[in-house]
Amino acid sequence: MTATVRTVADLMTSPAVTAGPAETLEVAARRMAEAGVGSVVVAEANRPVGILTERDLMGVAQLRPVEGAFTDVPRGLKGVIVAETEIGEVRGLEGFYHYRQYSAVDVCTHYGFEDAWALLVDGHLPDADEAATFRAELAPLRRLPEPVAEVLPAIARAGLAAPGGAGSLDALRTAVSLLALAEGFRPSLDVSPERLRADGLRLGAAVPTLVAALHRLAHGMAPLEPREDLGHVANYLYMLHGAEPEPMALRAVEAYMTSTIEHGFNASTFTARVVTSTGADLGSAVVAALGSLSGPLHGGAPSRALDTLDAIGTPERTEAWVRDAIARGERIMGFGHPVYKTYDPRSAMLRDIAREMGGPLVDFAQQVEATILSTLAELKPDQELHTNVEYYAGVVMELAGLDRTLFTPTFAAARVVGWSAHILEQARDNRIIRPSARYVGPPPPQPLPR
Ligand SMILES: CC(C)(COP(=O)(O)OP(=O)(O)OC[C@H]1O[C@@H](n2cnc3c(N)ncnc32)[C@H](O)[C@@H]1OP(=O)(O)O)[C@@H](O)C(=O)NCCC(=O)NCCS
Repeated sequence: MTATVRTVADLMTSPAVTAGPAETLEVAARRMAEAGVGSVVVAEANRPVGILTERDLMGVAQLRPVEGAFTDVPRGLKGVIVAETEIGEVRGLEGFYHYRQYSAVDVCTHYGFEDAWALLVDGHLPDADEAATFRAELAPLRRLPEPVAEVLPAIARAGLAAPGGAGSLDALRTAVSLLALAEGFRPSLDVSPERLRADGLRLGAAVPTLVAALHRLAHGMAPLEPREDLGHVANYLYMLHGAEPEPMALRAVEAYMTSTIEHGFNASTFTARVVTSTGADLGSAVVAALGSLSGPLHGGAPSRALDTLDAIGTPERTEAWVRDAIARGERIMGFGHPVYKTYDPRSAMLRDIAREMGGPLVDFAQQVEATILSTLAELKPDQELHTNVEYYAGVVMELAGLDRTLFTPTFAAARVVGWSAHILEQARDNRIIRPSARYVGPPPPQPLPR
């Protein structure tokens, strides 16, 4: 038998993929990626003058081989699609967002918190029987395991020194981490989708219990055991205040929490997906997401919007106050959004609920809102700055009797549901999220100082 001798001609790419010496590295890299080759012949006036390899590019750009071209993206990844999702979407120009295929505002108006939860996690709006089964599945999960309940007073005491206080998101983050540890959550890479779903329900059901317990402990009150006969939001308000909520307060907080369950690829949701993409457990992803949510530019603003109303004091002072704040380079809390460039539909829904609740705070907030909007339009004519969810969320929660320190933890108690849905989706079709950065420091390698 004769051995087959393979020649260069058998393997070479023909015609040769070439690049010009004056072309940018990005263009050459893209051509390599499109042709599926690891090098190009550098040609000038149809004469080969050199070879550029993927390794050369990696040396310069500190990039690992990737399938696509090396692409610069806008700061903050604005407008960049980084994943596919069936969970929902925010259409910023239309002022519309949806949970799966349904308008989120319609879901908030016609369904309860647990129904929206089932929709996101299980994929469809439950019928009456399914809704009852889902609620019955969740209710016992509100109870905390003994080792966690025992440590909560210590977390609350430690939190007294924290800027946000003992009932803050930092305290919640610590407690959630402890709960995930006590529950023995395993890496998402190693568990079944059913197990991961169960972990998500466990955290989602227990977070309000943690928030309420930390809040009560921070105010010298004993935590209350959750009640299984109440709905998720009604039980949360009961655990906070020790009494069943008034129907209007319940409707307002339930609408707020349902409208906040999920909102596209915001920073905390993206964080949860990045952590999950490493195969880490659901608890780690939620703890990281809580950290992301704690920033004032994301979840930390609803109480600040009310603080703004306090600082303004009377409607006549609004315009001068806004002008001063903008002159100092500050942002007006409760206005502007990275995606909505028109009204925020959540804000419109909550404004309607606030109007239904009525009272001097609502009248004041509406007057101030109108002046802030017109002043911002004058001072920042190139920006589309509209009222965001947090402005009326603050008003509605204040009227429902929630302490200001609870605003962000309440937001978190709702959003943990959306994070869980995203964690499940990420784990189902996972790929580690690992982008690149352009190195812009002094050219390496420099000699060591000694
Ligand atoms: C939410 C937020 C971070 C989104 O920002 P963004 O769309 O990415 O916009 P940028 O940060 O790029 O800012 C763009 C411009 O609009 C201005 N701007 C954005 N929000 C503003 C606000 N609330 N008040 C005053 N100016 C604002 C910025 O100062 C900047 O102006 P400049 O170009 O003259 O410097 C921003 O609107 C903000 O800080 N809002 C206040 C905090 C808040 O309410 N957060 C809750 C969000 S739901």
